[in-house]
Amino acid sequence: MAKDKKVLDLQKRKERVYLGGGTKAIEKQKEMGKLTARERVEALLDEGTFNEYDIFVQHSATEFGMADKELAGDGVIIGTGMICGNPVAIYAQDFTVFGGSLGLSHARKITKIMDYALNMRIPLIGINDSGGARIQEGVNALAGYGEIFFRNTLASGVIPQISVILGPCAGGAVYSPALTDFVFVVDKISKMFITGPEVIRTVLGEEITMEELGGARVHCERTGNAHFFAQSEDECFIQIRKLLSMIPQNNTAPAAQEEEEEPNTKTFKISSIVPADPTQPYDVRNVIRSLTDDSDFFEVQEMFAGNIVVGFGRIGGHTVGFVANQPLVMAGVLDCDSSDKAARFIRYCDSFNIPLVTLEDLPGYLPGVHQEHAGVIRHGAKLLYAYSEATVPKITVILRKAYGGGYIAMCSRHLRADFVFAWPGAEIAVMGPEGAANIIFRKEIADAEDPVAMRQEKIAEYKEKFANPYVAASKGYVDAVIDPSETRKSILHALNVSSDKTVYRPTKKHGIPPF
Ligand code: HXC
Repeated sequence: MAKDKKVLDLQKRKERVYLGGGTKAIEKQKEMGKLTARERVEALLDEGTFNEYDIFVQHSATEFGMADKELAGDGVIIGTGMICGNPVAIYAQDFTVFGGSLGLSHARKITKIMDYALNMRIPLIGINDSGGARIQEGVNALAGYGEIFFRNTLASGVIPQISVILGPCAGGAVYSPALTDFVFVVDKISKMFITGPEVIRTVLGEEITMEELGGARVHCERTGNAHFFAQSEDECFIQIRKLLSMIPQNNTAPAAQEEEEEPNTKTFKISSIVPADPTQPYDVRNVIRSLTDDSDFFEVQEMFAGNIVVGFGRIGGHTVGFVANQPLVMAGVLDCDSSDKAARFIRYCDSFNIPLVTLEDLPGYLPGVHQEHAGVIRHGAKLLYAYSEATVPKITVILRKAYGGGYIAMCSRHLRADFVFAWPGAEIAVMGPEGAANIIFRKEIADAEDPVAMRQEKIAEYKEKFANPYVAASKGYVDAVIDPSETRKSILHALNVSSDKTVYRPTKKHGIPPF
């Protein structure tokens, strides 16, 4: 009997905590179209698998009237659970409790679950919904953030770290998501900025809304800070589950293999997806889908730097990371943003032993004053660094154009691609035939009776001699010129051959990538 009383008492205590900041605050949360922290965790994890810890932790602040304030769970929920049957560690800030603001105890709960995640080598998911550093706790709150940032860095490349922005994420708080691998945002709900509209108005006299400053679209389309955009929290949780089903649990575990539901028998004709005319655009995602199991492709940063496409797919059950020029956007040129986007994705795949498949069709780097002054040298170098540094199996397929620096940068043999395949229509050269003819045959064209006809003749001559895959194949820079319909078969074979790839690199503490 006595025991039952104690169990009832426990139940009551728990229920008090489950009420978070109280019914009024919960109502306000709902009015904003948001779920509560606990509802979010339940919705994301496999049903009934959430185990919560530190439910009774309290703050110890005394200043500014804090001494007699009891904050449910100190404004954050932590625990472990399962997603698709695999364990994950999770925290979710509770905006109904003091605006989800981060004090010392709140931070200690988060760092505790981060330590679990790292020690257990399981993915970490952080749901952010907070007004930032708890102002009443002063430097203790700042210390808390510092401890989180340090652990984000420590865990980087060891376990997947996922940030979900489901409310405000303001001030220095934004740097934890920025240090993690994937940031998920939801339209109209997510807001991320270092200084808010109020400060901007006061200091600079500029007017801007929170949405325009740091809403979900802004971070998906313009800043590149976010990787996945959803219309609703539920859609966002589906995306997270999908991502976790494709990537490994840690940097020593393999990604789960999955059998294809229907074997991909789609052999595709070069003319049906990729036009023979190298000036004609097409959607490279259709090429990717024609290569993957069940035509499934999970794109990362779909809305940012559309001239390059990156994401995960499976071939013969193996998860691979695709990096593909997108001729549909700016002819697939490389520029600052696309180099950053691809370099980061390559480093993720390399850290987690996910083989890289590169599909190449680009005219080179984007010329122009804006790009030069924006630092295209530094940004472009990130791509070279990431590919060169990567030791996972690297398979490159040259679909059409491979010109100039672009040829080298898109995982050429020279950056240690393991397999380089080219389609018969590929053009591998220093530059496009038109530009090349203008330079090397300038005199002949100018002296000709019919300069237009002479120019066409010289373009054709250049194409015949250089703009094909056979010169590179004759040097061994291309391993095989393949019928496009054999692309999937060739990639799958390369994956099977290289599953135990081992390479040695010089011993060093770490390199100095062009950050
Ligand atoms: C303490 C906070 C708080 C904070 C919100 N609250 N932010 N309490 N510290 N940082 C409290 C509010 O007082 C309020 O309490 C409750 O949470 C809900 O907040 P509201 O303002 O009513 O909500 P809303 O109107 O939706 O506005 C949300 C908001 C706003 C935009 C996030 O609260 C806001 O601007 N907060 C301050 C943001 C900020 O500047 N944070 C510090 C950033 S500096 P009551 O009791 O009234 O319900 C930082 C440094 C980190 O984080 C550095 C790391 C390196």
